[in-house]
Parts: sequence; structure tokens; C-alpha cells
Amino acid sequence: MSVVQPLRLYVNGERHDIEVEPRKTLADAIREDCGLTGTHLGCEHGVCGACTVLLDGQPVRACLMFAVQCDGTSLRTVEGLAPDDSTLHPLQQQFWEKHGLQCGFCTPGFLMLAAGYLEENPDPTDEELRDVLSSNLCRCTGYQNILAATKAAVAEIGK
Ligand code: FES
Ligand code: FES
Repeated sequence: MSVVQPLRLYVNGERHDIEVEPRKTLADAIREDCGLTGTHLGCEHGVCGACTVLLDGQPVRACLMFAVQCDGTSLRTVEGLAPDDSTLHPLQQQFWEKHGLQCGFCTPGFLMLAAGYLEENPDPTDEELRDVLSSNLCRCTGYQNILAATKAAVAEIGK
């Protein structure tokens, strides 16, 4: 018999009352129980960053957390990044314009990583941006366009 635990998550401003097994990861709960599959799973052990979401504003690797650890918290996923259905977030806009993605698998993780960082550090140096972005992996782009897109978004946000 599997044991489940009730859990309340606020994801992108919406309340989700779900029941999960204690060993279920936050990433799986977001994808399977909240129905938000924009959070991707690559390595599932904390290396690639594809699963990055914001937990109470901080970027976290959702594959490394148990969902039950997040009871009552506010989460933001890539589905909640754009301000509305017809406007992209500056990071999304610049990733598009600067070709910051190819297959796109890593993109939600990079977007949420950068969004979380820039909300607390709106005027980063190149060095700081390189350091932050280096925590996630991309197998396609060679990183230069991801960096260029993030820098362009910094300029856009600062306007
Ligand atoms: Fe979470 Fe790779 S899937 S870090
Ligand atoms: Fe393919 Fe990054 S765009 S892994």
C-alpha cells in the first residue's frame, strides 16, 4: 500500500492541493500533479539544471527536492514567466531574438535561473552572468547566445 501525503503548492499564483508519495520529487509533482510540463527533466540528479524553478523567489533544482518539503511555498515555473498571454518576458524575447536556444530542452531551466538571479541582481557584470549561467548545461548552443540573450534582457529590464 502506498502512503500519500496531502500538500499545498502555489504555482504561478494558482493553488494546487495535491497528494503525493513522500519520495516524489518536486519536479515530478509539478509535471504530473500540477500538469505543468514546461519544467524539464534531464539528469534527475542535480547536474544539468533543466528542472530549475523558483521556490519563494530562489532558483532551485526541482529534481533534488522532495515535493513534501515545499508544502505551502510559492513556486514559479516557465509557464508563469511571461506577464500575460500576449507578452513575452524580456528573457524569453531575447532568447528568441538572439537565438539562445536550439532544441530548447535546457531553455526553461536557463530562463528561470536567469529570472531568479536578475530579480535580485538587476545589474550584473559579465563575469557574474557567466558564473551564474555556468551552473546549467546546454548541449546545443555553445552558451554564447544564451549569454548574449541574457545580457540583452538585462539591458531591456533596466530601461
Ligand atoms: Fe534536475 Fe538535471 S534534471 S538538475
Ligand atoms: Fe538544446 Fe540547450 S538548446 S540543450
